[in-house]
Amino acid sequence: MKPNSSGKKVAVLISGRGSNLASLMDAADGSYKIILVISNVAGVAGLDRARDAGIATAVIPHAGKSREAFDGEIDNLLRAANADLVVLAGFMRILSDGFVRGWEGKLINIHPSLLPAYKGTRVHERVIEAREALSGASVHFVVPELDAGPVIAQASVPVHPADTPQMLADRILAVEHKLYPEALKLLAQDKVKLQNGLTVFS
Ligand code: GAR
Repeated sequence: MKPNSSGKKVAVLISGRGSNLASLMDAADGSYKIILVISNVAGVAGLDRARDAGIATAVIPHAGKSREAFDGEIDNLLRAANADLVVLAGFMRILSDGFVRGWEGKLINIHPSLLPAYKGTRVHERVIEAREALSGASVHFVVPELDAGPVIAQASVPVHPADTPQMLADRILAVEHKLYPEALKLLAQDKVKLQNGLTVFS
C-alpha cells in the first residue's frame, strides 16, 4: 500500500453511477489519491464503488437548500478533508460563483462534448439532430459560467448516421474513462495550471 501522504488529495463529486469515478480510482498512481467521494444523491452506485474501495463517502442532499448553503456544506467537508483538488464526475448540480472561485485552478469537470460546442444538457440528442460527424469528451477547469472553462484535454469519437443518443453516450463514455485520469494526472503533477483564464502546460 502506498502511504496516505502520496500525491495530491482528491475529492470527487458525483450524482450517479460513478463510472468515471471508477476509472479515476483504478488509475490512481501515486500522483493523486482519492480521499473523499461526495454525492448529492443517496443510494447511487458511485457511492458503493467508493465504499467498496475503502474511500470515505458523504451524501449532501441539495433539496430545500439555497445553492450557497448546499455549496457551503460541500466546501466545509472538502476543507475538513484537506482536499487539494476537486473533481466533478457526473455531478449534476451547478456550483455557485463563490464556491467555484474558492477552488479556482483546483476544480475540474468532464463534459461529454467537444467544448465549446454543446454545453449544457441533452448533448447527444442535439449532436445527432445537427448531424455532426464528430463528438467527444472534454476535461476543463471549472469557471463560474457553465461548461465554459479552459479545456485541459479532449478526445473525439465519430458520430454514425444510425446512432441513438445512448449509443453515442456509450462511445463517448469509453473515451472519458481514459481521458479523465490522464488530465487529472497532469494537474496532480503540476504539469498544467489555470493562469489568467487560460490553460497553461509546462
Ligand atoms: C458522463 O458521461 C459525464 O461526462 C457526464 O455525465 C456522465 C456521468 O457518468 N457529465 C455531464 O454531463 C456533466 N455536464 P458516470 O457517473 O458514469 O461517470
